[in-house]
Amino acid sequence: MEVRSYRPADFAAIVALWQACGLHPSRSDTPLSLERKLERDPDLFLVAEEEGRIVASVIGSYDGRRGWVNRLAVAPELRGRAIGRALMETVERRLRERGCDKVNLLVEPDNRRVVEYYDRLGYRTDELVFMEKWLA
Ligand SMILES: CC(C)(COP(=O)(O)OP(=O)(O)OC[C@H]1O[C@@H](n2cnc3c(N)ncnc32)[C@H](O)[C@@H]1OP(=O)(O)O)[C@@H](O)C(=O)NCCC(=O)NCCS
Repeated sequence: MEVRSYRPADFAAIVALWQACGLHPSRSDTPLSLERKLERDPDLFLVAEEEGRIVASVIGSYDGRRGWVNRLAVAPELRGRAIGRALMETVERRLRERGCDKVNLLVEPDNRRVVEYYDRLGYRTDELVFMEKWLA
């Protein structure tokens, strides 16, 4: 299995992976917006490829102050093989190398079972109100 940066040609496969993993596509998940993401943090937007198939993903970001993790997903039939852990450790290491000392992530209310997973990776829950505004 190879871990590498996302490429534009992966778009259909990564969206299919997210759907298979119950991560609802956002209206930001267009080929163009994922390509733009590559212009900023190509080494944090990772996929795992096995026999030519995209089997896992993670989108890391660094805003200069905090790190963020989104879209961690592992194909259902390959779970429990520490692929998720490996992707998280790679992103965390690369964030640390950039001077980032804290990583945040968000869990959808219908996906609370994954909180226990992140807890085992060292993440703690904080009671915050998430607010958002679409600009386009
Ligand atoms: C969450 C997810 C990425 C985990 O991927 P994975 O490759 O199966 O996880 P790992 O094999 O790295 O598991 C690491 C550890 O967590 C444990 N674990 C895995 N899934 C777990 C869960 N749902 N709850 C609690 N622990 C879990 C494993 O047993 C393992 O423990 P160990 O290191 O002590 O053996 C995967 O289940 C997934 O794609 N879920 C659907 C998408 C999703 O919800 N993503 C998160 C969006 S916020």
